[in-house]
Amino acid sequence: MSIKAPEDVLAGLQHWRNLPAAHQPEWPDAAELSAATTELREWPPLVFAGEADSLRGKLAAAQRGEAFLLQGGDCAETFAESTADRIRNKIRTILQMAAVLTYGGGLPVVKMGRMAGQYAKPRSNNLETRDGVTLPAYRGDAVNGHPFTEAARTPDPQRLLRAYHHSATTINLIRAFTQGGYADLRLVHDWNRGFMSNPAYARYEVLAGEIDRAMRFMNAAGVDFDALKTVDFYTSHEALLLEYESAMTRIDSRTGTPYNTSGHFLWIGERTRQADGAHVDLLSRVRNPIGVKLGPTTTGDDALALVDRLNPDGEPGRLTFITRMGAGRIRDVLPGLVERVTADGRPATWVCDPMHGNTITSPSGYKTRELATVLDEVHGFFEVHHALGTVPGGLHVELTGDDVTEVLGGSEEVDDAALARRYETLVDPRLNHQQSLEMAFDVAELLRDR
Ligand code: PEP
Ligand code: CO
Repeated sequence: MSIKAPEDVLAGLQHWRNLPAAHQPEWPDAAELSAATTELREWPPLVFAGEADSLRGKLAAAQRGEAFLLQGGDCAETFAESTADRIRNKIRTILQMAAVLTYGGGLPVVKMGRMAGQYAKPRSNNLETRDGVTLPAYRGDAVNGHPFTEAARTPDPQRLLRAYHHSATTINLIRAFTQGGYADLRLVHDWNRGFMSNPAYARYEVLAGEIDRAMRFMNAAGVDFDALKTVDFYTSHEALLLEYESAMTRIDSRTGTPYNTSGHFLWIGERTRQADGAHVDLLSRVRNPIGVKLGPTTTGDDALALVDRLNPDGEPGRLTFITRMGAGRIRDVLPGLVERVTADGRPATWVCDPMHGNTITSPSGYKTRELATVLDEVHGFFEVHHALGTVPGGLHVELTGDDVTEVLGGSEEVDDAALARRYETLVDPRLNHQQSLEMAFDVAELLRDR
């Protein structure tokens, strides 16, 4: 028997419409928008309540220091690049990183993509001007197109439906790859061996050698590798477009409780985390585990207001704070926040996003980041938690499985001139495959020494 939600719960799911909602597109035609979302409401869920519940349990383990979250993927997925090859490469990179982190930390790693739904972006300016022509800014493929023409840049609600379809095909491939043998630990280990054969990574040789020996030991001891062939892999995106997220919010027929079925984990961005705003309100009413990005200006009161709104009962695993302070600020700003939240007593899982506080413009004009600076923020994050006796619960990164040149540095030394070679992102610069693995080895050492 399916249980219906009470009327007040259903009405509550529309309350966000009365509240200020930052960073929403100006859809030109209300009737077209309504037609699209009406259709979307009829389409099947992309994820299921039980999956979101099991993820909540794993994030609770990360909060206690019994697991570690690895969340990674593009700044913005695009329809054009949601191809089998690109998706496979991203999954492969995350699995490779997870294997290294699992060894380093001696902990289960919770694997999560910024994938299968990351199609919308908040932008600092609503408009973009080029050569005297002003058009709406690109807000992600779920809203408008990137080409600088009036037709492409006009928000189109049909894109919400396309975003759903691309999310569905992506999650289908994720499920196939991670359940169908591609996640076999022996395979993942072989890929990592391939990475280590490059002399540029000699400084990680000791750790790589240890992992190699551990694999041989497991083999000799008769570990059932076939049982290690599948992994749980969760999806996540920024819950930015309220019309989309609202249409994907459904009532679980077993419990009568609302879940956002567009992804397992949804996060609220730094620019839309107002405690009395529409985003916080809508997500306060669903059962999924929820993240909130916290930038360097966040006050202790801000953080506690978010706990009040999103996790009033202090349920473990429900709320994750994803801090993105910048390498120069984290050691000063993070301790006060962690202390305030810890003193409150309601648990939050602390995760480090070392990307968004460290974006710079290179001399040749590219929006980029330095790998060394990114790693410095991760080190700062671990130092702060170590000093306070609290738990560094995970890592949130923008990465791709391809050999792009968007982030400076790394052992293969992408320099400013190299950025032009293969700079493909439409929004923020991503670690490439190599840089991602390098980060995993670096963080594995931090986890080991924790
Ligand atoms: C992002 O994660 O791509 C993003 C926009 O981050 P933030 O909300 O932290 O600025
Ligand atoms: Co980004």
